[in-house]
Amino acid sequence: MVDRAGTLVRDAFEQPTSNVETKSSNTDLVTETDKAVEELLIRGLSKEFPDHKFIGEESVSGGQKVELTDAPTWIIDPIDGTTNFVHRIPLIGICVGLAIKKQLRAGIVYNPITRELFSAQKGKGAFKNGFPIHVSKTEACSNAVVVTQIGSIRTPEMMNSFVQSFNSVIGDKQAHAHRAFGSAAINMVYVAQGSIDAYVEYGLHCWDIAAAAMILKEAGKPFNLMGRTVLCAGTPSLAKELSSALTHVEMETEGDAIQED
Ligand code: IPD
Ligand code: CA
Ligand code: CA
Ligand code: CA
Repeated sequence: MVDRAGTLVRDAFEQPTSNVETKSSNTDLVTETDKAVEELLIRGLSKEFPDHKFIGEESVSGGQKVELTDAPTWIIDPIDGTTNFVHRIPLIGICVGLAIKKQLRAGIVYNPITRELFSAQKGKGAFKNGFPIHVSKTEACSNAVVVTQIGSIRTPEMMNSFVQSFNSVIGDKQAHAHRAFGSAAINMVYVAQGSIDAYVEYGLHCWDIAAAAMILKEAGKPFNLMGRTVLCAGTPSLAKELSSALTHVEMETEGDAIQED
């Protein structure tokens, strides 16, 4: 099914993008392809699992509260990195995560352009195209490639946090490099496969991170799916050093913290 979604995205990626709409603001885009992929995935999965629930980015209408219950729930971001998709930057992820009793059980992030399939199931490890992946062992910020990403929320507080954190991590601490790939899922699976050492972003939603969180978790890093913030790193010492260098933004959570078992 993710395969079929991939073909849809790949075909559309080759064409000049049409029907780009904005949602909450000028920095929040959606295309016909986002909607078509979400519909395809939900239709296919609900045929197979008629009792399961769905949280899909494009099915949640503006301002609506997201509710993650104990029921088996598929958390879907049809295209993570819509702005990349619109600008034909090949860094996007079709993201499908499964939570049962509010715990992640499985996740797939598929980049149909590069044909990289990241997958994980609880307790079974994380894989890229079938090969095991692991986070990096980098301990210090001064040896790290760090992603700090600004999303669609551009309030003064958000901008201030981004600039201050950038100055502190990239300037003061002289990290090896700064990157930002424009897709939360890609940023996270790149941490999972050890290509980058850490990633931080505020203001995310559960669909941005659910699938990749499962992959990252199986590569060793737990965190709160509903917390709207990602701070992940290959090692605890790098996470700690980064955390104390960042200008944090307080975010209202989307729901209860996911309990670890
Ligand atoms: C966005 C991407 C982007 C991140 C934003 C997300 P979308 O998701 O993950 O990298 O900075 O916060 O909203 O809208 O492309 O699915
Ligand atoms: Ca979006
Ligand atoms: Ca997203
Ligand atoms: Ca999306």
